[in-house]
Amino acid sequence: MLVTNKEILSAAMAKGYAVGAFNINNLETLLAIVEGSAEERSPVIVAVSPSAIKYAGLEYLATMVKTAGILARVPMALHLDHGKDFETVSKCVDAGFTSVMIDGSHLNFEENISLTKRVVDLAHPKGVSVEGELGRLAGVEESTVEEREAILTDPNVAKEFVERTGVDALAVAIGTSHGAYKFRAKPRLDFERLKAIRKRVEVPLVLHGASGVPSWIVEKAAKYGAELGGAKGIPDEHIKKAISLGITKINIDTDLRLAFTGTVREILATSPKQFDPRKILGPAKKAMKEVVKAKMRLFGSSFRVP
Ligand code: G3H
Ligand code: 13P
Ligand code: ZN
Repeated sequence: MLVTNKEILSAAMAKGYAVGAFNINNLETLLAIVEGSAEERSPVIVAVSPSAIKYAGLEYLATMVKTAGILARVPMALHLDHGKDFETVSKCVDAGFTSVMIDGSHLNFEENISLTKRVVDLAHPKGVSVEGELGRLAGVEESTVEEREAILTDPNVAKEFVERTGVDALAVAIGTSHGAYKFRAKPRLDFERLKAIRKRVEVPLVLHGASGVPSWIVEKAAKYGAELGGAKGIPDEHIKKAISLGITKINIDTDLRLAFTGTVREILATSPKQFDPRKILGPAKKAMKEVVKAKMRLFGSSFRVP
């Protein structure tokens, strides 16, 4: 059975490790997560975004993950990633999600609080966890100090946000961004800010935009025709430091997309006679599973489940 993010993240926070939230759009990605978490004996969060719902359908995705939850021998949560409105959240709660994110980061502070609180009031009585977001995920490399302050999470208001909304987890902006092009120059995260937030806020903290964009995946994809010049992610050492400073949930999508695409490209290029989708998607699933397993080891969540 599926469990909530709250349950998974409380255990992780108490022991000082982080749990991966991996985005899915299809069966192959879900299977990669299911098999990876079983082999690593790791708790895991399956994340579904509104655009994944648009692509594959809420019922298909929810039913697949609920089935995975029944078969899984590790704690698994079904989480709405970047829910932008009350209606989407409400549909996901009805469909059996055990956790939802309401991303009000595009709103002003008071509007973000009011939308997030409304979601908490809907979700908590039904036993569903809620993640809120304060600050915006955007490239901050070339921004001025004032611009950075406006984009990154303000530790002084994070406490008020958590207290007034009642969220179970808080997504923070400390310099990461979504996708494969996170930095033009040297990767840099605002660890002092993270420390200050951790000091003031008691709920688990979430790092979005945490993919590493490993060069071996990018090079393989490029070898078979992908154009990914300048792709850059978060180095593993930064992830370890972020966990040591209080990050408990880590969101990964891009690395799975890259592993999938690189492998599909390789098979199509090296086996031009192949037209059985299982012989193309099977290796892609295996490549994603290896990414999932490596993340679990990096996050310290491996072998936490007896
Ligand atoms: O944070 C965004 C996730 O990577 C999901 O991306 O909206 O394209 O499904 P998506
Ligand atoms: P990446 O694009 O770095 O994988 O981040 C994914 C994410 O934050 C999903 O919410
Ligand atoms: Zn995100």
